[in-house]
Amino acid sequence: MKPALPCLLTSVLSRCVLNGLQHLLGFASLLPRHSPQIPAATVSTTPAVQIPAPHTIDGGVRRQIAGVGVAELAREHGTPLYVYDAETIRRRCRDLTQPRAGAAWDTVRFAQKACSNIAVLDLIRREGVVVDAVSTGEIHRALAAGYDPHAARSTTADGLPPAHAIVYTADIFDRESLDEVARLGIHVNCGSADMLEQLAARVPGAEVTLRVNPGFGHGHSQKTNTGGEGSKHGIWHADIPDVMQRAEGAGIAVTGLHMHIGSGTDLAHLAEVAGTLETVAREIGRTLTTISAGGGLPIPYRPGEVHADLGGYVQLWNMTRRRLEEAFGHRIRLEIEPGRYLTAESGYLVTEVRAVKRQGSRKYVLVDAGFNTLARPVLYGAYHPMSLCPADPGPTAGALREEVAVGGPLCESGDIFTQTDGGFVATRDLPAAAVGDLLVIEIAGAYGFVMASNYNSKPLPAEVLIDGGKARLVRARQTPADLLRGETV
Ligand code: LLP
Repeated sequence: MKPALPCLLTSVLSRCVLNGLQHLLGFASLLPRHSPQIPAATVSTTPAVQIPAPHTIDGGVRRQIAGVGVAELAREHGTPLYVYDAETIRRRCRDLTQPRAGAAWDTVRFAQKACSNIAVLDLIRREGVVVDAVSTGEIHRALAAGYDPHAARSTTADGLPPAHAIVYTADIFDRESLDEVARLGIHVNCGSADMLEQLAARVPGAEVTLRVNPGFGHGHSQKTNTGGEGSKHGIWHADIPDVMQRAEGAGIAVTGLHMHIGSGTDLAHLAEVAGTLETVAREIGRTLTTISAGGGLPIPYRPGEVHADLGGYVQLWNMTRRRLEEAFGHRIRLEIEPGRYLTAESGYLVTEVRAVKRQGSRKYVLVDAGFNTLARPVLYGAYHPMSLCPADPGPTAGALREEVAVGGPLCESGDIFTQTDGGFVATRDLPAAAVGDLLVIEIAGAYGFVMASNYNSKPLPAEVLIDGGKARLVRARQTPADLLRGETV
């Protein structure tokens, strides 16, 4: 029973450190939930920095999106239609590219899987944000949007290593992606050790990042939790010594370390990652020049939810980085890799109401978009705010309200936008809708269009980007011919 004293000492010490940290940073909510008990009196009550939400309407009437009439958008481009507001994307990029509370991310890397239209990527590139790619297709999108994989080759004036404009992050190379990564010299973030030898055979002496599974994870749904034993993602944290040997044997240098524990998680869980990454970084050692906090930043979807304290979060990571710099004796680049945060709030899915009916006591509003257009509700029971643009332009239109379930056109009972996790049909209090009204599904700019499908042989919708009060078609709606392309009888 000898270790009792050292254990107690460690516990008291870590409690002091945590309390000190909280006072210093004023972000009690960030500290690990299962950290030592901290007396409430010592916990800072500094509120999270308020980041203004865009003009989301949940349950009301919406006539315009970013200064353009909803009816005009539908007339011009048809429905269902994805609409993005460029200014909101810029604002969200700047939330992360500009210093907060005296600390800053050196690199903001957009996880383009959230919204990969090349007009959106181009906009984000102009904000100084680099990009992540998970497939050959996403590499090609990054190139088409103007990203140059070889843009930054040298160390910056303040001694930081260059940021890779494009990073391929995956748990496997399919044959095509290995070819493209080798041909274009794209930096790879390896989520499985087998990738090391595969890359070494094609790019001798390559430098890589390791994506490490820290043994825990968290997401808004179990399906978006990417850590722990239940996840296929990343290299298991305890395997690092073996994997480092394999890298050495393959002649590969490990220059980056990355952890991404899940999507739509909360800052308490995200903050736990910094400590684990630091431990693994020390195991990897001095070859490291870049660390990445991964993505996962939450955004408010439901009424009453607010933005998280980004200042406290970057300060936490900055301290981790500084300690590693001290230990290694050289500068370390600090990256973050958001997807949802940069684009979710910019996006609206405009649909047309095509039927209104009663099934017993329940009323259904059926629109021309389904889970082929926006899959988040059927996949995760995800909540999206909804607003109505009545066809009647009068000021009293939409004044009457009712509880309705909102569904789409697909031949599947799960084709419901107002469902909870597990597939239970729920209802929403919305302005009473009639055929011909437009129903807008909001905060749909992340994992919206990119997860759309051709199920029921429905065409992929069009995408429009609004900038400076002007709407520009950035992806044409698929045509009937597009749906048959490549097929033969
Ligand atoms: N980095 C990696 C390695 C990722 O796998 C992801 C997301 C991100 C960054 C960006 O995560 P974010 O910041 O967007 O949370 N379809 C789901 C989300 C799946 C996320 C997949 N990976 C949804 O609609 O919520």
